[in-house]
Amino acid sequence: MDRISYDPRGVMIHETGLSPHDLERLAPSLDRARTEFLEQDLPLYNKGGKVPAEKQPLDAGFFELPERLLAEHKEKGDKSELGRILATAKRLQKSVDRIVLLGIGGSYMGAKALFDACCHPYHNELSRTKRNGLPRLSFEGNNVDNDAVAGLLDILDVGPASKPEGRWGIIVISKSGGTLETASGFRIFLTALRASVGDDPKKMAERIVAVCGKGGKLDELQQALGCPESYEVPDGVGGRFSILSAVGLLPAAVVGIDIVKLLEGAADMNRRFREAPFAENPVLQYVAVCQGLERRRGINIRVLSVWSKALESLGLWYDQLLAESIGKDFIGATPLTCVNTRDLHSRAQQHQEGTRDKLMTNVILKSLKRDPIALGSSELDQDQLNQLSEKTLPQIMEAAIAGTNQAYNEAGRPTADITLPGADEASLGQFLQMMMLATTIEGRVMGINPFGQPGVEAYKKNMTAILQG
Ligand code: PA5
Repeated sequence: MDRISYDPRGVMIHETGLSPHDLERLAPSLDRARTEFLEQDLPLYNKGGKVPAEKQPLDAGFFELPERLLAEHKEKGDKSELGRILATAKRLQKSVDRIVLLGIGGSYMGAKALFDACCHPYHNELSRTKRNGLPRLSFEGNNVDNDAVAGLLDILDVGPASKPEGRWGIIVISKSGGTLETASGFRIFLTALRASVGDDPKKMAERIVAVCGKGGKLDELQQALGCPESYEVPDGVGGRFSILSAVGLLPAAVVGIDIVKLLEGAADMNRRFREAPFAENPVLQYVAVCQGLERRRGINIRVLSVWSKALESLGLWYDQLLAESIGKDFIGATPLTCVNTRDLHSRAQQHQEGTRDKLMTNVILKSLKRDPIALGSSELDQDQLNQLSEKTLPQIMEAAIAGTNQAYNEAGRPTADITLPGADEASLGQFLQMMMLATTIEGRVMGINPFGQPGVEAYKKNMTAILQG
């Protein structure tokens, strides 16, 4: 498997960045955090854990998911969780032309990241044939935006449909089962689905798959609807850490993403995290750079510059992961996703000359899915591009990345590069696991529990009181 790499050389800037010595100084505490993380009660690696209960993270179950799901699949095939997910995906692919995914936060951002990174950039606009019969995927239940909901309802067939082209279904995801945005969306889209299947309860139930916590309101509702299949968000796996459970895997599999490769990528990152020494460990190096710059230079804005439009949602997934995990106790860096070169024309001015509070981490694709497009020559050379006629878009992108890093370096602005072999499943699996591990380790060295999001409750409480008052 081609591995992703992390290169922090761009942070080695005299006076405004770090020195190799600064990183080495953080090595012992990060190594300790890794050992502690690996020694907690993790059923696959370490039964019975040595870490005292009060220091155990609450929801570290994400760590073992890749290996656990892959091993179970090997052993039990179709009867395993992964086997069931693949079978449900196949059934949905055959029976519907669009899935409406209802979920918010960790219950949708991972699926959106995978969809945007791995699928055709205009997947939903392609004909069914060009999509190889794979369903379209639309996201709702992630807001209470009336016109957005009405807009999606406009394009759904809500009359009895005989052709696959008119059929649609719902994947509804909520761990708690009680999130208002998702529950409201479900109620509204359920009414539309009922109309679409001519009020046939069996047909309706077959078009719905819930992924939820056991025994919650959503679980009760899907049982009352008689849905033949549902999935559980595993215990000990928090929302924003759940992308490699059914939460992210089911929608990904429905749109043809190879979820086995995704898990294999994540398992490979687990191996590197467990085995590689500090200097070669992408997770520990990443945390050392982030923490080093924060502690020594007060740099607490984390810009994730993704150099591909396909990776924007992946950046937003990381925004949530970092913000909700370590933004606690009046501390925690602020994440910001930029899509370059697009945002060089909106944010780069500030990054180049504004406050010295930013680390720019580039996410770069080593290979692309499509053949390079050259500019070509033209009889009309008013734009003076004939001199670059043989240059391709990837070459221009490469020059933009190097030129931007150089400009930041000359201005004393730290940068680091994460290079993905491609926007493919194995690379994404590695990246996702790297970031979830890094966030967990960073929380530990900061003395913050990265799991849970108690601060989100305040708005919910107020909103409910206002609605009921
Ligand atoms: O990371 C988290 O736990 C949150 O972002 C949740 O995913 C989000 O609040 C949605 O919660 P639920 O899945 O319970 O509807």
